[in-house]
Amino acid sequence: MLDPADSDFARDPYPFYAGLRASGDASRVSLSNGSHAWLVTGYEQARTVLADARFSNVPPRRAGRPKPDSPAERARAALARHMLNADAPEHTRLRKLTTAAFSPRRVDALRPRIELLVKELLRDVGERAADGGPVDLVDTFAFPLPVLVIGEVLGVPEKDRSALREWTYRVGSPADALPPGALEDAWSSLRGYFTELIADKRATPADDLFSSLVHEPGEDGSPPDWQPEELLAMAFLLLFAGYETTMNLLASATLLLLQHPEELSAAQADQAAQAGQADRAGGRWDAVIEETLRHASPLEGTTWRRTTEAVTLPDGTVIPAESSVLVVLAAASRDPQRYPDPDAFRPARYLPDRDGRAAPHLAFGHGPHYCLGARLARLEARIALPSLFEALPGLRLAAAPEELPYRPGLLVRGPRTLPVTLEEATAPQRPRR
Ligand code: HEM
Repeated sequence: MLDPADSDFARDPYPFYAGLRASGDASRVSLSNGSHAWLVTGYEQARTVLADARFSNVPPRRAGRPKPDSPAERARAALARHMLNADAPEHTRLRKLTTAAFSPRRVDALRPRIELLVKELLRDVGERAADGGPVDLVDTFAFPLPVLVIGEVLGVPEKDRSALREWTYRVGSPADALPPGALEDAWSSLRGYFTELIADKRATPADDLFSSLVHEPGEDGSPPDWQPEELLAMAFLLLFAGYETTMNLLASATLLLLQHPEELSAAQADQAAQAGQADRAGGRWDAVIEETLRHASPLEGTTWRRTTEAVTLPDGTVIPAESSVLVVLAAASRDPQRYPDPDAFRPARYLPDRDGRAAPHLAFGHGPHYCLGARLARLEARIALPSLFEALPGLRLAAAPEELPYRPGLLVRGPRTLPVTLEEATAPQRPRR
């Protein structure tokens, strides 16, 4: 029996998954809500399932009464009609429409904007930390940065940034943590805002990634044939696929580096030795990012899959038709068959070596739904992490790591708060106002 709401499980689910991995290609697990799911926890098995079209991404139709038709419910329903919830050929059509907009050239062009956003946020963090009390790096840095970057991707004007941040914060919070109506209001506001934004981009394309998504021909050169609701779903998908995942990557990497100061020093020394080649690939900072993605997979599992027919796995396990299946990326990326000493945080695995680098982790998934934003997420982390430790050299964890709260559930994983302080000698002077 697995209780995804259990706080100890949320913090350290790895021993449980290691047990499942040792017991076969897939395990049928009873969940505390009374349902069952098949969990896939091995590296090779995860890749096999994610590339197999018999594991569908289309959610089953909900049985029972339809939900009330409120504006917030309409917003949620619009969000659900996106490419991550589609199979080929529908998925292939939608994915082709995004290829040009997410080209390496377009993503890399965001670098100066991301650098500026990082600088602005870190100035704020530094000022707060200078007051002496602990500052929560999730709240002040790891959460706002990805939301602001997606704002850039979508071409949200600067004046609307703080509203986007606030609505996103609310829809990502548990309903009982907010005043009555606040959650519903945030969903409707986001839907209304994105609808207007899309109309704007259609009428007057700007120099942002979302405008090129709306206007540029797809991979095969054909004009984009987005339906209005599909673009709305895409805007929602970019926001939700991109913010909590990247937030977890930034928070987990910061935590790991604070716990492994020798790895931080090695990455900083490597950067100093390569001064003037800030965007050089393959150095120690890149290795820190890859190893964090492997060791602390920001998505614990993929989205749910459903078997369209009975599937027999290589070890003879049969998953019946219409079963819910979760590929546990966090477990697959710690498979001892692939990674020696898999629970150790060892960035050097991802440095070029005589014996080659470690196998690619599965944090961005595998197969047709491989993360569309992988390059953007890596770019953000590559700018944010060195800048954080350079701007605030005296950063210290202000809580015991084993007491940090983690978000319950099987889908995402990362610390919810990361309280830090600055060593006095390194705290920036508070500007006089
Ligand atoms: C560290 C950060 C991130 C991680 C770990 C991550 C991980 C993933 C994974 C595992 C999937 C596949 C899910 C599945 O197969 O069920 C996925 C899909 C996706 N991701 Fe990311 N992601 C990250 C950041 C981003 C960002 C920044 C964006 C865009 C702004 C983004 C956009 C998407 C989209 C659109 C899909 C769906 C692709 C498809 O269905 O073909 N992701 N991501």
